[in-house]
Amino acid sequence: MRKLTALEARTSAAGAVDTDVIAVFQDSGKKPVPPRGAYSAHVERLRHGEAFAAKAGSLQFIRFGGKGSVESCLFVGFGLAGELTEEKVRSAGGHVWSKLLAEKSKSATVHLDTLFGAKGLKSDLSHARLARVFAEGLVLGAYRFNKHKTSSEAKEEASFGPAKITFLTQEKALKQQLDRELANVMAIAECVQLTRDWSNEPSNHGTPEHFAAEARKLARQHGLKVKVLTEADAAREKMGLYLGVGQGSEREGRIVVLEYNPKGVKRPKTVAFVGKGITFDSGGISIKPSARMEEMKHDMTGAATVMGATILAAKWGAPNRIVAILAFTENMPDGKAIQPGNVLKSRSGKTVEVINTDAEGRLILADVLDYAQDFKPDAVIDIATLTGAVSVALGKQAAGVLGNDDQLIDAVRRAGEVNGERMWQLPLWDEYFEDLKSDTADMRNSANDALGGTIRGAMFLKQFIRKGTQWAHLDIAAMASGVSQFSYLPKKGASGIYVRTLAQFAKDF
Ligand code: BES
Ligand code: MN
Ligand code: ZN
Repeated sequence: MRKLTALEARTSAAGAVDTDVIAVFQDSGKKPVPPRGAYSAHVERLRHGEAFAAKAGSLQFIRFGGKGSVESCLFVGFGLAGELTEEKVRSAGGHVWSKLLAEKSKSATVHLDTLFGAKGLKSDLSHARLARVFAEGLVLGAYRFNKHKTSSEAKEEASFGPAKITFLTQEKALKQQLDRELANVMAIAECVQLTRDWSNEPSNHGTPEHFAAEARKLARQHGLKVKVLTEADAAREKMGLYLGVGQGSEREGRIVVLEYNPKGVKRPKTVAFVGKGITFDSGGISIKPSARMEEMKHDMTGAATVMGATILAAKWGAPNRIVAILAFTENMPDGKAIQPGNVLKSRSGKTVEVINTDAEGRLILADVLDYAQDFKPDAVIDIATLTGAVSVALGKQAAGVLGNDDQLIDAVRRAGEVNGERMWQLPLWDEYFEDLKSDTADMRNSANDALGGTIRGAMFLKQFIRKGTQWAHLDIAAMASGVSQFSYLPKKGASGIYVRTLAQFAKDF
């Protein structure tokens, strides 16, 4: 993992700074207003030159060339102040980060008062939140997966952007809040990067055993309880579906059970997070086509997201207890692999006819969801790269969310919304179970056509949710990797989306 960019708050006048770049916000309704300070005369001269429209997402970079304490100024357009949203500010942060990288800036200062002072800002945008989301946008994109590259250029820390970013305001009363928000953002950066590192790891390195060992280390570092189930343990737990999926792999599966207990909370509620951790999904005997099969190393992103979110919630001191279950195993074809038509018995006792060995995520989740409910959780949320069909339904704009409790689903969606992480609800009407009826067993894991694929996946899981359990399922197959529309996320590889959503949920539930 790269060294994190340090974020610090300072309350003083803009003139007193010593920095490579000063970022100045600019409303599209007005001409650039230079901050007051030693370098303002330069800006004053320059602003009469090229017109800067200051549309949302636009930037103008000006190098002073003098020997002052500030080398350059970056005007950050944010559109009309009255139309500003948190997501636009986050997005501006992403653009600024890319520019700082391109300019090889070593330090930067964000002139917050040029944002806070914009006339017509909506009153629900608090100054602390504006700083927070801008900082998020800056650091979320600060990521590279370079651990398997050997050239020195690839490892060069200097090419990773500024080591420090200062958030400057004259609002003295804001200092404490800013310190707290920037610490929150540093925690986000760390946990999202961890999730991406896990997700991007090739499956010959990122084996179930590897992730279980990493989870153990992380749990110790962050004061979480941890237990790791081997396949022998899973057999004692009668997890026939989970074990069936891993049967064709040379690598042993592992189920990681983490527990976060909030300090000083008398009777905390319990939230169970369950993550799909297929370290490689070849499809098994129902093998996938070769094209882009390498992307199936990301099929453990649900588990990686649960890991990142649980640590983040712990760092934030969330007031709810979290039970986090990461179900790792590998889906491979082999002489011992499960075959289409096989019948497996789940931990819950229900039997499943495996029509398609590539519908493996729902099989492992069924057993760990059953296990999770033994902890008597007040809410269960599972997160999984479950179906290609979710990309057909929603594209790369939102995760699918389904479940048995609309209130819980709304709460999850709200936790995402404030973080710019979208989810869209799909129905889960009982009639959909018709498609999952089996002639041989209690149900089958897929049907013979591909209609309503995401719903069928969720409908299968629902069979393992007990009466009285509130449950929501997030299908992140489209969003886990290769998401390119966010200025503040990596364009390739793992996105790390929904780490913030789950941590936020654990904080607010
Ligand atoms: N891991 C895949 C889903 C997936 C597809 C994730 C594309 C990311 C990108 C899952 O295990 C799978 O293979 N699902 C099948 C289910 C089908 C066989 C019922 C699918 O979506 O085709
Ligand atoms: Mn599959
Ligand atoms: Zn899969």
